[in-house]
Parts: sequence; C-alpha cells; structure tokens
Amino acid sequence: GKNGSNSPDLNIFSNEIMEEIRIRFTGKKSPLQEWLKSLRNIPNEERKSAGAKINELKSEIENSFKSFSENYRIQVENKKLNSETDDITLPLTQLNLGSRHPVMTVMRDLMVPFQRMGFSVVDGPEMDNDFFNFEALNVLKDHPAREMQDTFFLASEWVLRTHTSNVQSHAMKERKLPLKIVCPGCVYRNEFDMTHLPAFRQIECLVVDKGIHMGHLRHTINELLNAAFARPVKLRFRSSYFPFTEPSAEVDVECQQCFGKGCRSCKHTGWSEIGGCGVVNKKVLESCGIDSSVYSGIAFGFGVDRIAKDRFAISDLRSLIDGNVSFLKSFGLV
Ligand code: PHE
Repeated sequence: GKNGSNSPDLNIFSNEIMEEIRIRFTGKKSPLQEWLKSLRNIPNEERKSAGAKINELKSEIENSFKSFSENYRIQVENKKLNSETDDITLPLTQLNLGSRHPVMTVMRDLMVPFQRMGFSVVDGPEMDNDFFNFEALNVLKDHPAREMQDTFFLASEWVLRTHTSNVQSHAMKERKLPLKIVCPGCVYRNEFDMTHLPAFRQIECLVVDKGIHMGHLRHTINELLNAAFARPVKLRFRSSYFPFTEPSAEVDVECQQCFGKGCRSCKHTGWSEIGGCGVVNKKVLESCGIDSSVYSGIAFGFGVDRIAKDRFAISDLRSLIDGNVSFLKSFGLV
C-alpha cells in the first residue's frame, strides 16, 4: 500500500500487473521453484525442515496475493458505487402525470351513445365559406339572424365557422342519404365573458332519412345529455327560432347546483341553456338538393364547454382556458 495502508492503489495496479507479479514470485521460473528444485542437493536431515519453510513462505505469498486482489475488487466496486449518484432502484416520488381536461372528459362521455346508436363521426372545416356557414343554412345576407352570432370574418367570403352546423351543409350536399352523423369540433365567436369563450367546442348532430320526426330528436338528445352529465338530467325544450330548423327549440338542463330552486349560477332561473335543436327546415333540404316531400331531418348543436361548466360546477368558463394547471388538475380526471 502507498500510505502504509493495506488498500491497493487503483491508479497503479491493474489485474494484469498483479497477475504478472504473482507469476514472477510463485510461477515455474520463480526463485521459490528454484529453491524447491535445489532441495535435492541438501542433506537428508535438513531437507524436511527446509522444504517446510519454503512451502510456508509460498502459502504466505499466495495468501497475501489473495487478500490483495480481494481488497482490489472491493475498492473497484466502491469507486463505481460512489460515482453513481442516482439510485435507480428507488421508487419515483414525483410522477408528474397530466390530467384530462374537463371539456375532453365531457366530449369523451357524450360520444358513447352515438357510437352505440350507429352514428358516423364527421369532421368539417374550421375556416369555411360564408355559403356553408350561413347561406346554405337559410341564414341569408342581411338577415337579422346573422347578428345572433358574432362572426370572425376572414378574407372576402371566408369566415371562422360560428357553429358546427356548417358540417350539416357540407354533409347534405356532399354525402349520400340517409345521413346519421355527429360532428364534434371547435367554433369561433367574437365574445368573451363568464359564460362565453371566443373559441369553444360544439357537438352537432344531423339525421336525414324517411320518416324522421321530433320523437327521434327528443330521444337522441336525452341519450346524449345523460351521457354528457354522467347522470340522468332533467330537460326542458323551449320554443325558439333558428333559420335552419322549423320548428326550433332551445334545450335547457336543470341547474346542477340548485336543481331548479334558483341560484346565482343559473341567474335564479333554475335552468341552464346548452344548445339549440329542431326539425331541419325544408328550405335547407331543398337548397342542398334533397327532396323534402320524401325526406325529413332533425338536427341539434350543443356547447360542450357549457356542459362541462354545469357538470363540474365551474363558475367562470374562462377558467377552462387560462392555463391554471392546478385548477384543471383539481378535477382529478385521468
Ligand atoms: N347552430 C346553432 C348554434 O350554434 C345550434 C343549432 C344546431 C340549432 C342545429 C338548431 C339545429 O347556436
């Protein structure tokens, strides 16, 4: 040892060097072996004790090599362990998994009955021509109904879709009958407050076939909303107006915070408005080239963010998009 200690100096000794030294001291050409050979030249009476002395020396040398190499092995191992600062066998303490956004939870839940009822999921453009977003849906130019929705206008005839109903016009013009489609997607309106976001999600539904009527509409909406709220909810159909449906209704869900008693959240009405619906206007069918004397249709469009707001008792819709991760995680939805 360097400092008088018994531990090998890792910088100087390697296994190869040690083996070389061992062979030099105990191997065939070592002085030890020479001495053993020369035993036959010494007198009988001295040979026994001389042989014993040489063998004693030999095993002493071998033992010290053994303990040296064992020490060496331990030192190498300790050096390696000390250089490994991470213990990969420890369990992870900070598994920073994300959580599902409440709107996506609602979206996922409400798609289940549509799959069961055999609807096709259809996509549509978020930037669309004025024609598909308004004109084909009987929302004519200069019609006051255009003011119902604060449109983001792009270049010339192009708009950010204000509702997923643009998929209705695309489907009726471009697809074969019968139609049984559902369209989830993002829509845009120039408004921003506690109950309105400039970009939000809708779920649109359209059925066009022979003999389709209000009963189908009512049943489909029941199925959808019970799934979207993950519990049976009480509904109210309120007579209303949309240019693309006749008759039209707005759909209210009983306020999930006061259950109809009236509270701040529902502005003391006991109800929460979540979307519109109706029987497809014959004018819309005809403008999309469908014979309205043979076919009829139903349609509805609901705000998914509104449903999430009510289902999870979120007071301000804006908190869904302001990026406060701990708020979103408080729903614990994985
Ligand atoms: N598009 C309407 C809206 O965004 C909702 C609606 C869809 C109404 C389909 C009737 C039929 O408010």
